[in-house]
Amino acid sequence: MKKLSTSNLKLGIIAGGQLGKMLIQEASKWDIETYVMDGDENCPARHIASHYVKGSYLDFDDVYNFGKLVDVLTFEIESVNVAALKKLQSQGIQISPDPQILELIQDKGLQKQFYEKNAIPTSPFRLYESAQAIQTDIENGTINFPFVQKLRKGGYDGRGVAVINNREDLSKLLPGASLVEEKVEIVKEISVIIARNASGEMKCYPLVEMVFDPAANLVDKLICPASIYTEQTEEALNLAKKIIETLNMEGLLAIEFFIDSRGKVIVNEMAPRTHNSGHHTIESVITSQFEQQLRAVLNLPLGSTHLKLPSVMVNILGEKGYEGPPIYEGLAESMAIEGVKIHLYGKKVTRPYRKIGHATILASSLENALKKAQQVKQLIRVKSWEKK
Ligand SMILES: Nc1ncnc2c1ncn2[C@@H]1O[C@H](COP(=O)(O)OP(=O)(O)OP(=O)(O)O)[C@@H](O)[C@H]1O
Ligand SMILES: [Mg+2]
Repeated sequence: MKKLSTSNLKLGIIAGGQLGKMLIQEASKWDIETYVMDGDENCPARHIASHYVKGSYLDFDDVYNFGKLVDVLTFEIESVNVAALKKLQSQGIQISPDPQILELIQDKGLQKQFYEKNAIPTSPFRLYESAQAIQTDIENGTINFPFVQKLRKGGYDGRGVAVINNREDLSKLLPGASLVEEKVEIVKEISVIIARNASGEMKCYPLVEMVFDPAANLVDKLICPASIYTEQTEEALNLAKKIIETLNMEGLLAIEFFIDSRGKVIVNEMAPRTHNSGHHTIESVITSQFEQQLRAVLNLPLGSTHLKLPSVMVNILGEKGYEGPPIYEGLAESMAIEGVKIHLYGKKVTRPYRKIGHATILASSLENALKKAQQVKQLIRVKSWEKK
């Protein structure tokens, strides 16, 4: 285990998106030299990392050669070449979280099998090799409508998920290896971020309620604390602890849950990294999720996850109809509202619904924070001179 006890600790981060950028911002408070690898020379983290390396996350040689440059390697995305990570690990480079955990989580089929094997509540599922095999099972009555199909690999932000309510929706079936699961009658979607270090210390963040925008299929608002029953909170926290301990994981794990119409807490999916639902922690919690990830992977004592003030987070998305260098409208007006904190990721191109930044709104009551969040959503527009 590499420690933060010298001035030449080299931390590698695979992918230089906004999560990588925010991780580097925290690392820069300490004496850590940061290396970031991303295929996009204009990625958000490029200019704040100590070193930038151009490379593809799924390419064995790129990941392997990058890993050789650092002492500790972590990631902000799931799509990383696991074989390269395993080889680096066998050569003494610390990979955190462990590549085996990444391998399990990269494949939603293996993830579901993990929940089933460990008696973790999740919606019942079946694995399929192709869309054709799903059609066959519909014909023979093994699958009933409605159901949800998910590609085993490569999905994100709802891409790779098809909700099939009836026969007319069958044209939405996705090609490739997938799983089919029962459609849950979702009342709320919540997220829990839990950290664990090599000493086995664990800390959970307060639960976050995720409210989705049906048009963009992206998170519209994130509310902390989540308004759910105490028993549901306890159930989600216990499940989070059970999952991270069963995985024997060092690092940060974000777990998405559904609360169904009977009030049951069901695991949807997990990500072994910092998460969109933890952005508010930068301002609203004593230790941000990014600092916590550093503490967890460096086996330092975990920081307090005490919520200082209720918070709402809204994504700042590219406006429909524009594609090109971003122009931000309404920033100053939003910043004039007390408790509004703006983050712009520095993306060079805006596209409809692309995540360009986020705003965290803090207030003494959740009700107030929600009102201010609504104002911010109406004020901020990301456009471009170039129309689509
Ligand atoms: N079994 C289900 N029943 C009902 N709705 C579902 C089910 N599974 C997923 N959904 C809906 O689809 C959304 C996306 O699913 P999921 O989180 O598995 O995909 P994803 O592409 O990995 O998402 P993201 O990257 O946004 O977290 C969920 O947040 C939920 O709203
Ligand atoms: Mg999800």
